Amino acid sequence: MATVAEIFKTMEYGPAPESDKEALGWLGKHERVFGHFIDGAWTDPGRTFDVINPSTSKTIARVTDGTKADVDAAVSAARRALPAWKGLTPHARARHLYALARAVQKHSRLLAVLESMDNGKSIRETRDIDIPLVARHFYHHAGWAQLLGSEFEGYEAIGVVGQIIPWNFPLLMLAWKIAPALAAGNTVVLKPAEFTPLTALAFAEIADAAGIPAGVVNIVTGHGETGAAIVEHPDVDKIAFTGSTEVGKIIRRSTAGSGKKLSLELGGKSPFIVYDDADLDSVVEGVVDAIWFNQGQVCCAGSRLLVQEGVADRLLAKLRARMEKLRLGSPLDKAVDMGAIVAPVQLERIRTLVQQGVDEGATMWQPSWACPTDGYFYPPTLFTGVQPSSTIAQVEIFGPVLVSMTFRTPDESVALANNTPYGLAASVWTESINLALDIAPKIKAGVVWVNSTNLFDAAAGFGGYRESGFGREGGREGMWEYVKRQVSGPRSQVSGKTPPSPQRPETRDLRPLSSDEMPELDRTPKLFIGGKQARPDQGYTRRIYSPSGEMVGEVPEGNRKDIRNAVEAAHAAKGWGRSTGHNRGQILYYIAENLAARGAEFAARIDAMTACGKRRAKQEVEASISRLFTYAAWADKYDGAVHSVPIRGVSIAMNEPIGVMALVCDDAFPILGLVSLIGPAMATGNTTIVVPSHSYPLAATDFYSVLETSDVPDGVVNIVTGDKDALAKVLAEHDDVEAIWYFGEREGVKQVELASASNMKRTWATWHERDWLDRAMGEGRDFLRAATQVKNVWVPYGE
Ligand code: NAI
Ligand code: MG
Repeated sequence: MATVAEIFKTMEYGPAPESDKEALGWLGKHERVFGHFIDGAWTDPGRTFDVINPSTSKTIARVTDGTKADVDAAVSAARRALPAWKGLTPHARARHLYALARAVQKHSRLLAVLESMDNGKSIRETRDIDIPLVARHFYHHAGWAQLLGSEFEGYEAIGVVGQIIPWNFPLLMLAWKIAPALAAGNTVVLKPAEFTPLTALAFAEIADAAGIPAGVVNIVTGHGETGAAIVEHPDVDKIAFTGSTEVGKIIRRSTAGSGKKLSLELGGKSPFIVYDDADLDSVVEGVVDAIWFNQGQVCCAGSRLLVQEGVADRLLAKLRARMEKLRLGSPLDKAVDMGAIVAPVQLERIRTLVQQGVDEGATMWQPSWACPTDGYFYPPTLFTGVQPSSTIAQVEIFGPVLVSMTFRTPDESVALANNTPYGLAASVWTESINLALDIAPKIKAGVVWVNSTNLFDAAAGFGGYRESGFGREGGREGMWEYVKRQVSGPRSQVSGKTPPSPQRPETRDLRPLSSDEMPELDRTPKLFIGGKQARPDQGYTRRIYSPSGEMVGEVPEGNRKDIRNAVEAAHAAKGWGRSTGHNRGQILYYIAENLAARGAEFAARIDAMTACGKRRAKQEVEASISRLFTYAAWADKYDGAVHSVPIRGVSIAMNEPIGVMALVCDDAFPILGLVSLIGPAMATGNTTIVVPSHSYPLAATDFYSVLETSDVPDGVVNIVTGDKDALAKVLAEHDDVEAIWYFGEREGVKQVELASASNMKRTWATWHERDWLDRAMGEGRDFLRAATQVKNVWVPYGE
């Protein structure tokens, strides 16, 4: 028996196990076998699979592998429950969400222990982070339910939402999905990850007891095939997914053309950047939170340590000393820092990647102590001497493995930080606020933490750029993912009728120019690329006919090479995104002014092409001028927000341009359709490649000279005419195009969404006919939101 004095001397921790009695009691009550939770009741267990405690490798329960029929049953329960749930007053739904928050708090101990047993994460984390954040999420969204009518006026629930979540934060991911969905009036079918289904099942029971109506929350357990059945179900209106980029791409492809709304929160390889003036002791604790929190199984883990050369050796020495002191062991022991890896397959993946790092020549370091052997444990690991292009610097390891690299200058740090296909999060460590706030906007990531890391809150949006996915979770920006514009009553009649669907020019009309056919050399139709009227790569042109069959002109047939040139020009013009809102507004006003000066000419052209009548053509030009004014107005008014997060500090939500956008116009409105897309894209700082109206492109080619006389910087707007769907496909496939809007036919929508998966570019593709003259439908915040992505920059105050 050690004396107190001896204990003081060694400073060793004894074990401090949290009791698993309550959790075992709950499992026992269910005889450790579970069906699904559908329509407010348990189903009989079907074919089951084992649920394993990764810290002991023992089976703790069995759950049902969901079949297509199970998914069908859950979706129809959700469909039946939808009208009543959606029809509740916002206040009534707010009370339900509030009840959920209270119920989670009441059962917090059960949930924390169960989570720890199922996932292997430490009880300290589940008790102090996961479960409190779950409750916080429901409280916060009780608020959005209450405010839905006033803050989301004109919007309504999307319908039945399918939600698929991973195993790294099982209950927290459930809360991130379910809270906003319910607040907005949707009903849900959620599939937890196969490794960690238990807290979702416990939640279903808790929610039921808290009075959530039957069918509003349905939980179906199972593997990837069960998830796929939800994704492919025709009666599901939206899919929300968190998991690997690989599966995210599969889901993007399988929902293409279905009209399902999609939000994807995928992987990352987030940089943790340390400048030479940073407080290195805080940095060390930051790194512990960044990469050893949850054993590094965190999508936004700071897994790439980028250190300014001068302080690298000092920091790494401190870090190794700290790693030596990390405590790894039974997750239910309140004194451990790190628990177990979720499953053998993940452990194997970590081992393989670490070996690959060693084989590639990097230096691996691990603390001297040994891991327990009866579960799936992996020690904290540090790599130095890492090449930026090596596998371990590029691939998400999803384990407690940190790779470190050095840089010399801030510019170099940004280049290194952005040197992956991902863009989820970043940490920036410096005592200079100037430097921190200079770097934050330059990093391609949805979240940037200044002198902090892994901060989350329900009030701040979370989500990625690039291959880390799209859509946000949390805060107002997250709520947009769960609402759609209300369609009520007959379409507004302001606009009169849309012109008749034109006959598309046949391919046989395509032909090389021959000089004797062309009246004047300077009328040779061209493309508009890099601020210049550019000859197309090939000499083919497309004849444009009026509805009565007269030829009204020709446009070039743009091809893959022309698109490539246009994309290059758009990239070269990216400085546009850093110009001021005031300047962008000025240029949009100037375009409007120059269009107005030539209004009669444009109206005549529109009438000649579409035979819509003089009055209607004039109306279109007037509406185009007004639309440009709208976005000139917005250019300095599409503000971000400062979120109220519960830290001493702020989370600044900035609306950033997406970058290079492809804009594919629909047919009906030759000039209004075009300015309705370039307006919001330009106002928010994007550069664009436009494919104008397929059948009536001549107003767009006339528009070149308006752009030329309006001080639009070269490359901000590029216009390529030709076969709309062929060009759209090239643009959707192009890895240097960051977003694509497509208005057209359903088949085209499908092609665009399919092809977009290559680099997970953002898409906004619809086949619903849009009356561009109707301001409610043709302009406003929906467009601005689709042209931007939100970056949340967390800035703590104080010492
Ligand atoms: P995963 O992406 O396969 O699993 C996530 C969820 O998707 C699970 O519920 C799974 O059953 C479901 N799923 C799998 N295939 C599906 C399909 N075809 N259709 C619909 N749902 C499907 O991830 P996994 O295999 O568990 O982990 C592999 C790697 O993915 C990890 O090593 C890590 O790099 C990454 N990952 C990233 C996460 C994040 O939070 N961003 C979370 C989990 C994994
Ligand atoms: Mg498990």
